[in-house]
This record gives sequence, C-alpha cells and structure tokens, in this order.
Amino acid sequence: MELTKKGMTREAIFERLAEFRRNDIKWQEGRTYGYVFDPGSEVMAVGKAAYNEFLSENGLDFTVFQSLLRLERELAAFGARHLRGDEQVVGNFTSGGTESIILAVKAARDCYRSTHPQIHVPEIILPATAHAAFHKAAHYLGVKAVTVSVDPQTFRADVEKVKAAITKNTIMIVGSAPSYAHGVVDPIADLAALAHEKGLWMHTDACMGGFLLPYFRRLGEPVPDFDFTVPGVTSISVDLHKYAYTPKGASLVLYRNKGYRKHQIFACSGWIGYTIVNNAVQSSKSGGPMAAAWAVLNYIGDDGYLDIARKKLASVKKIAEGINRIDGLRLVTHPDMSLISFTADEVNVFHIVDEMNSRGWYIQPSLSFDNSPAHIHLSVNASNVGWEDELLNNLAECVDIARKLPEGELVSLVKESLKGMDMAAISDSDIMNLMAAAGVSDGMLPSRMADINGVLDLLPTRVRETVLTVFVNDMFTQP
Ligand SMILES: Cc1ncc(COP(=O)(O)O)c(C=O)c1O
Repeated sequence: MELTKKGMTREAIFERLAEFRRNDIKWQEGRTYGYVFDPGSEVMAVGKAAYNEFLSENGLDFTVFQSLLRLERELAAFGARHLRGDEQVVGNFTSGGTESIILAVKAARDCYRSTHPQIHVPEIILPATAHAAFHKAAHYLGVKAVTVSVDPQTFRADVEKVKAAITKNTIMIVGSAPSYAHGVVDPIADLAALAHEKGLWMHTDACMGGFLLPYFRRLGEPVPDFDFTVPGVTSISVDLHKYAYTPKGASLVLYRNKGYRKHQIFACSGWIGYTIVNNAVQSSKSGGPMAAAWAVLNYIGDDGYLDIARKKLASVKKIAEGINRIDGLRLVTHPDMSLISFTADEVNVFHIVDEMNSRGWYIQPSLSFDNSPAHIHLSVNASNVGWEDELLNNLAECVDIARKLPEGELVSLVKESLKGMDMAAISDSDIMNLMAAAGVSDGMLPSRMADINGVLDLLPTRVRETVLTVFVNDMFTQP
C-alpha cells in the first residue's frame, strides 16, 4: 500500500474495505460454527456503539481514565460472582483467552519463583486437551509444558496420569471447563484436590464455559463444579467475547485472592519516561472492548442469557442426536456444553468439511493428536439456532459424496515418502516444495483443503509446526 497524496474520501475507503471482506466467511448467515459468536444485529449495534464511545480512551493509565478503572472493577466483580467466588477474589480484564492464560501462567511462575528459588525450569502439567494458549504461554515465559494423555473414552483429563507427571519442578496443573476440542469438562475437583495436596497452583481454563456453564446448570444440566467453590482452584480464565457475545478483545483472569494476583502485575520504573504499571500484557490499549463488554452484558441481562442458553442447549442436543443417526458419522464423545466433535471411521473427514464448506457452512477440521482421531468441530452459538435440520441434511449428503472421493494423490505420495524419511532433517525448501505440490502458492490456499489437512495429519507434531511456520512466514509478505 502506498499512501494517497491527498487522502481518500470516506466513501472510497469504505468501498475498498467492503471489497477486502468479499471472500470472508458469511458468518452473518448463521451457518458458521466457530470464530464469531453472533448475538444478532440489535445486540451487536449496542456493543459497537459502546466500543466506539470508548475507542480513544487509553487503558495504559487507569488513574487518568478512571472510567476504565471503574469498568474493569465492575467486570471483574461480575466474573467473581458468576464463578461463585467470595469477596477475596480479584481479577482483570484482558484482550482474550490467550492473554488471560499467559497472565495466569506468569503469575504462577513468579509466585513459585518467590517461594521455590531452586526451580529453574518450572513445569506445568497439561492434559492433551488443554488449549494451545498454555503452550504459547510456556514458550513465551520459559516454562516447560508437560502434556499427558486424556482418557480415551471420555476425553477428560486422567487424574492418575497427571499425578504421575508431577516432578519436583511442577508448579501448575491445568483443567478445562470445557476443553475446546471435545467440549467436555475435566474432573476439576479431583485435579484441584491433587494440586492442593502437592502444594501446586490449579488453573481452570473456563474461557469457553465460564460464562455459559452456570446457565446450563440453571437449566438442569449436570454441570460439575469447576469454579471458586472448588477448594484448591487458584485461578480461572473466562472469556466474554465467546458465550457472553461481547465484541472481541474481552476476557477475564480471576484469582482466589490478591496474594496470587500480585504476581501478574508488571511495574517498571527502570527507564527514563513515565511510570509503568500494567495488569495485563498490553500497555496502551483501547477502552473500547471493556465498555462494549459492560454494555452487552447489561443489555442482554440475566434473563436474556438464560433464554439464549436454553435455545442453544436444545440446538446442541438436536445436532448431537442427529449426527449419531447419520450413517458413517459418530460423536467422538458426548458434549458437556455446546462444543460438538464428531468423526467418521470410514470416510475422510476432511472431504466432508470441504463439501460442507463449499455449500456455505463453516465447520472446523481438527487433526488427529495423541488418542484423539481427526474430527470435525462445531462451536454452536446463538445465531446457529434454527439451522439444525438443514445442517444435518447437508451433512448426510456430504458424507455420501465424501465416501466416494478418492484419497488425494498428494496424500498417497506423502504417505509413501514418509516411510524411512528423517523428519529431523526436513528443510524449509522441502516444505515449500511439498506445499507447492499441494497447491499452496504465494501464501494462497486452494479452495479444497482435504489434501493439505490429510498431509498435515500424517506428519509428526513438530514437523506440522514447522510446516505451519514456513507457510505463514510466506503468507505475510508484501501483496
Ligand atoms: C478452552 C479455551 N481456552 C482458551 C482459548 C483461547 O482464547 P482466545 O482465542 O480468545 O485467545 C480458547 C479459544 O477457543 C478456548 O477454547
């Protein structure tokens, strides 16, 4: 992009922006099962208006912008109450689940640094279903992520395996409520009891479920305790920009008390300039997401959220039952909330995804990992309610079509060449060649992704990560 000499008109700018968006998924149609949590245009308009009102306020200094201090305190207090904490519970607003998780890991690391200086490389124990954000946090913070398999039937964390992974360097145990991939709630009470017994930090990742599960409980669903009522739970991450339907950039990280939260805060006066004291990772940050979150929570209100939850629950049950009735498909496990994972033992799931997506749906492919098969993921949100029959009919049709599609030539080729290949020696140019053969060029992906997903699925995790890095490094270049 080159700057225009005299600037563009407002009209021309918005025309161009609309053009940029032309090939995006059409999430507004209600057939997108991920990425966008859409409460409908009326609620969105309230969120956008509040966002705009506070767009320019800067969360860098909450003594100057006392409105933001007020908003953050109110939102954290709401989170503490929603997750049944007492008056000791404190928390902060962050830009999303990943930031909340990075902060909780940092707090745990620094807390144990102060009490256990002999631990040089702290370890956090992650059931294989813990979100990738914990691996990112570990990577950024010099902490070792120790992954343990989950139960192969329920896909919940296996407490005995977690126990066996504890070493003298362990500082934290993580449980999900629910996990993203399979949508099941880990045995948080047992994990927290183990953490308590061993003197470890227990984090519940309730980014997905922290807001919604309490509503499902009120609707009579058997939701296990995962919040501050569970002794031993030290911190919880809960996103607002997911099932609270607030505009993106909205999550909370909560701690049982200030003694733990203290380790999250970063202060710096060792430079020439203004004094820095940050609760979160970002320094300068717009007040927009916070004001929008406050506005949407209050606009929808408790009855409104209960009503949305009721509809969503009915939708999830209908979809889950319907999937099990489709010849060739099966649920990977029964969902505890609104995240559904299903697979096909004799049909290529990646072909099913391509077929569905070419019909205007967005459903998400997931690679196999550890004891979990390659599968398809749906995050059901308010805007999907009412589409169940059409989704199931289309799925049945796509399974039949996918059943007849051959395995891609590339997948067979890679399968062959993987035999006897030294994965450690794979170079960036090998990867570029592989991608070119799969139809990836100039950072552009082919419209059908089954071959690429099929190849990725064959590769060991570290090689997959290298491929993704090479690809993205190539994608974000000058247009
Ligand atoms: C369980 C869980 N934790 C954390 C995250 C990360 O959240 P974000 O994408 O807002 O950073 C997600 C995202 O889907 C999630 O499902």
